[in-house]
Amino acid sequence: MKIAMIGGGMVGQTLGAGLIAKGHQVTIGIRNPVASELAKPRNYAEPLADWQARTGARVATFREAATGADIVFNVTSGLVSLEALRAAGAENLADKPLVDVSNPLDFSNGMPPFLPAALTEHTSVGEEIQKAFPKALVVKAFNTVSAPVMVEPSLIPGGPDLMIAGNSAEAKAQVTALARDFGWQSVIDLGDIAGARGTEHMMPIWLRLFVQGGSPLVALKVVRG
Ligand SMILES: NC(=O)c1ccc[n+]([C@@H]2O[C@H](COP(=O)([O-])OP(=O)(O)OC[C@H]3O[C@@H](n4cnc5c(N)ncnc54)[C@H](OP(=O)(O)O)[C@@H]3O)[C@@H](O)[C@H]2O)c1
Repeated sequence: MKIAMIGGGMVGQTLGAGLIAKGHQVTIGIRNPVASELAKPRNYAEPLADWQARTGARVATFREAATGADIVFNVTSGLVSLEALRAAGAENLADKPLVDVSNPLDFSNGMPPFLPAALTEHTSVGEEIQKAFPKALVVKAFNTVSAPVMVEPSLIPGGPDLMIAGNSAEAKAQVTALARDFGWQSVIDLGDIAGARGTEHMMPIWLRLFVQGGSPLVALKVVRG
C-alpha cells in the first residue's frame, strides 16, 4: 500500500521504517523538504537525509506525501495537527483511513507537558481532526505507547493492548490489520472517534510511569472482571 506519514519526527520515522519493512511504500511529509532541512538533527530521531539513505524512501511536502496515498498517518504534535493536515489538503485525506497517532502535549511550561483545555475539555485531537475533515476516516491508534513499541509490541513482555477508536469499522479493520502485521495481539476497539479522548487523557499517567520507571517501554494493560 502507499502510505503517507504527515510528520518526520521519531514517530514518523519509526512507523515509516516499520511499514517499509512490511513491504509498503512510505513517503514522509514535512513542511520544507530541502536538503538543509533534511540534514538537520531531529529530537530522538535521525536527520531525515540519513533515514532516506537507510530506507530508500522519499521525503516530500505534506501535500505530496498525502496525494495518492491509500492510508495517511498524522504524526505531528496534536497542537499543530490541524495546521499540518490542512497543508496536506482535505481532498487528499478523503475516503481513506487517517490514522491519528498524536497527543496534545504542551511543553511550553517545560516538563512535564500539560494537556491544553482547548484540545481536551469535551474533545480530543482525534475528534477535532474528524470535525475539520469530515470525509476522512479518522482512526485514533498507537498514541498510548512509545514509537519503538508501535512497530515491535513484543518489546513489552506479555504484549500491550492497542487501543483504537474511529467512526468507520472498515478503516479500523485496515488499521488493525497493519497492527497485527507488527505483532499486536490485543486490539481494543473503544468505539467511535470520541474514544480518542480517553487515550489522549492517558498521557499524564503514562508520562509518570515513564519518568518514575526510567524507561519508555511501559504500557497500561486492560484487565476485566
Ligand atoms: N515519541 C513517541 O514515542 C510518541 C508516542 C506516542 C505518541 N506520540 C505522538 O506522536 C506525534 C509525533 O511525535 P514526534 O515526536 O514524532 O513528532 P515531532 O518531532 O514533535 O514532530 C513531527 C512533525 O511535526 C511537524 N511540525 C512541527 N510544527 C509544525 C507546525 N507548526 N505546522 C505543521 N507541522 C509542524 C514537523 O515538521 P517539520 O519536519 O517540517 O519541522 C515534524 O515533521 C506527537 O503528537 C506525539 O505526542 C509520540
